Amino acid sequence: MAEELTIIKSKDKKDRYASLIPQIEALISTENDLIANLANIAAALKEGMGFFWVGFYIVKDNVLVLGPFQGSVACTRIKIGNGVCGTSWTENRTLIVEDVDKFPGHIACNSGSRSEIVVPVRKDGHVKLVLDVDSDNLSEFDNIDKEYLEFLVGILEAKL
Ligand code: SME
Repeated sequence: MAEELTIIKSKDKKDRYASLIPQIEALISTENDLIANLANIAAALKEGMGFFWVGFYIVKDNVLVLGPFQGSVACTRIKIGNGVCGTSWTENRTLIVEDVDKFPGHIACNSGSRSEIVVPVRKDGHVKLVLDVDSDNLSEFDNIDKEYLEFLVGILEAKL
């Protein structure tokens, strides 16, 4: 496919996800390199959803290490159980944080970040990486984001 996304401007995020996710699926369907696919997923989510920061942390030697992302520079290593990412990893579930200042141990890579969603990406049930999305608004993320981002992660998991 041509490497250009069709971006719809709808105010309804469901519409934006519904338009974007099949395009991401097509984009990664012909490529098997993980880093290339993570890079394009991060870019597509940034462009299509307008996220403040979006990227991946990859489990390496029992630490989360910064992977492909879009947004400001970020912390490179997160220990198991630390922050929202490390907690999503150990609890093996999606976490939605409405106010990062109220999450014990939140790691502030960027002072502009106010709310966050982290979705684990698994292989054989084990977390291999996490998708992290930050917003500069409080309470940005809800079950709609959880549903669509988990669906997107499922497409990625099928390629792991
Ligand atoms: N806030 C995250 C750290 C990663 S940055 O948001 C990019 C956390 O608490 O795990």
